[in-house]
Amino acid sequence: MSKNRILVIGASGQIGSDLIPRLIDRYGNNNVVAGVYNCELPDDLKNIIPDVSIDVTKYDQIEKAIIDNKIDVVYNLASILSTLAEKEFQLAYEVNFNGTLNVFEATRNTEVKQLIAVSSIAAFGDRSPKINTPNDTIQNPNTIYGISKVFTELLGNYYFEKKGLDVRGVRFPGIISWKVEPTAGTTDYAVEIFYGAILNKSYTCFLAPDTRLPMMYMPDAISALISLSECDSSRLKHRVDYNVASMDFTPAELAIEIKRKIPDFEMNYEIDYSRQEIADSWPSSLDDSAARAEWDWDPKFNLSGMVDDMFENLTAKLIDGPIHLP
Ligand SMILES: NC(=O)c1ccc[n+]([C@@H]2O[C@H](COP(=O)([O-])OP(=O)(O)OC[C@H]3O[C@@H](n4cnc5c(N)ncnc54)[C@H](O)[C@@H]3O)[C@@H](O)[C@H]2O)c1
Repeated sequence: MSKNRILVIGASGQIGSDLIPRLIDRYGNNNVVAGVYNCELPDDLKNIIPDVSIDVTKYDQIEKAIIDNKIDVVYNLASILSTLAEKEFQLAYEVNFNGTLNVFEATRNTEVKQLIAVSSIAAFGDRSPKINTPNDTIQNPNTIYGISKVFTELLGNYYFEKKGLDVRGVRFPGIISWKVEPTAGTTDYAVEIFYGAILNKSYTCFLAPDTRLPMMYMPDAISALISLSECDSSRLKHRVDYNVASMDFTPAELAIEIKRKIPDFEMNYEIDYSRQEIADSWPSSLDDSAARAEWDWDPKFNLSGMVDDMFENLTAKLIDGPIHLP
């Protein structure tokens, strides 16, 4: 394990809030800096690591944060997610295209050794094979979010090949976690359902019962980012476009798993057709053999393991009192 100094941009979001404690555990609190936007770090992290305000649409803020903090590795998690991006097109363009380009440029123009960027299954479209979607296949997303993810992936290849920047990243499926609620994604039902089950024994789902989507539990998502970051570069044949999979399920299948924990749980459906249309254009399962072969991707959580862990942690958070991060 190297002693790199790491900057996480978009640190206070769903993934950043779980990534930061794992990075602190692994590399030490002196080597992690949180880039936050329009918010503060949670109290339990505030006095442990430095934070710096970064708006990715402002190039100078990114470059200054990198230089001031002598950063070697940047994780860029700043993004406007799928559902919000469709509603706030201009904002999504500014953050997901211009902001992403600014992060690539700022890392290239400084002493940064590695950039971790994040793509999504939204980078596929309705002409991509839907079942077991291959790593390398046709990509025709029809959302601004999906198009921005293809842009990020292609920029990753470009900066690696033409500018010598060590860029890496994965295409995440829907991420399920209990610490911070997701913001505006199409797969958010798979988190909201746990809040509904624990607090009200019921949930009204905005996707149809048979909508199969790939999903992942947060601990595996964080392991994916860190393993890929630490892997020997010579093994990598891809850059920001690794499929990573661990489970796929439908709302109806998740409801059956929830009933295993709460037998009188009631699932209702009120379909939001704009989110349904987005979900229908995405893969239902992924072929992640490239990630397994090139950097030993090996997820730990399946559907029932994720449900057990979500119930334990979310019940503690919502009912038994706050959990303190390590
Ligand atoms: N959560 C998922 O299910 C999921 C799935 C696939 C891919 N991803 C990708 O993972 C990455 C992280 O997603 P997340 O789930 O943590 O999202 P999130 O919405 O919870 O967090 C996004 C972060 O971006 C920050 N941000 C927004 N505008 C910004 C700006 N102008 N400058 C700097 N920061 C800004 C927000 O403050 C927030 O901290 C994103 O690239 C997202 O596309 C997430």
